[in-house]
Amino acid sequence: MKIGEVHEPNRKVVGRTMWHYDAVESTNETAKESLETEGEEGLVIWADRQAAGRGRQGRAWASPPGGLYASVVLRPKQAHAWILGLLVGMPVVKALRHYGVFAGLKYPNDAVYQDRKIAGILSEGVYRRDLYHVIVGIGVNTNVDLEQFPPELRGTVTTLKREVRLFVANDEFLDYLLNQIDDLYSRYQNTRIEFLLKDYRGQCTTIGKRVTARTGKTTVTGKAYDIALNGALVIMDDAGAKHEFVEGNFEILK
Ligand code: BTN
Repeated sequence: MKIGEVHEPNRKVVGRTMWHYDAVESTNETAKESLETEGEEGLVIWADRQAAGRGRQGRAWASPPGGLYASVVLRPKQAHAWILGLLVGMPVVKALRHYGVFAGLKYPNDAVYQDRKIAGILSEGVYRRDLYHVIVGIGVNTNVDLEQFPPELRGTVTTLKREVRLFVANDEFLDYLLNQIDDLYSRYQNTRIEFLLKDYRGQCTTIGKRVTARTGKTTVTGKAYDIALNGALVIMDDAGAKHEFVEGNFEILK
């Protein structure tokens, strides 16, 4: 059920209007439904709970109460869902650091602190009436205890509440995060993509590490050493051959 609507006219595009729900299936799905009636670019759907939160690669996203679940509707000129999802990792990490968790960006867009995942992003491109939209869904483990996650996740995730003693309300965190995404989006519209990808590369802690990348039937192990212009992770295998991966599972090796 929709429980509120917030307006922030000082923002340029992202988060000028926000619809707040107590619970939805998935904020990405509610954002897609909004395209039938609402035309505003930058609309944010925020929910306190999700019954069927979705992650990358068809996985579920555990969404206990206390976490932050939001999706932003964007309408970029180019069909850039993948790259936008990648770049939005930067504001997410910035917001986490602002509130005291010195997270890093694990390729493509997981926010990770001390090898535990604290936030994730699912970006999806959708056409409505010939217009291309990108829905960027962001999940942050804010005010959640580890015990609220399924047992199999407790060893691999962390939360803001666990890492920082100070209580940070979700509306405060989201307000800061949306300001950062709004800034990023205006840079995205006005700057060459290679400059933003350079910034991303500088923040991506996967670069320089030994990784195994798995997509479909392909598995490559080697050193992650660059981000290509299409946003792909470039890996050099032990024989010196280069491989580019845009989707898949990336395991950081010790
Ligand atoms: C991932 O790391 O696998 C991506 C997780 C993305 C989760 C967020 S929560 C808000 C939005 N709604 C969803 O169903 N998924 C995204």
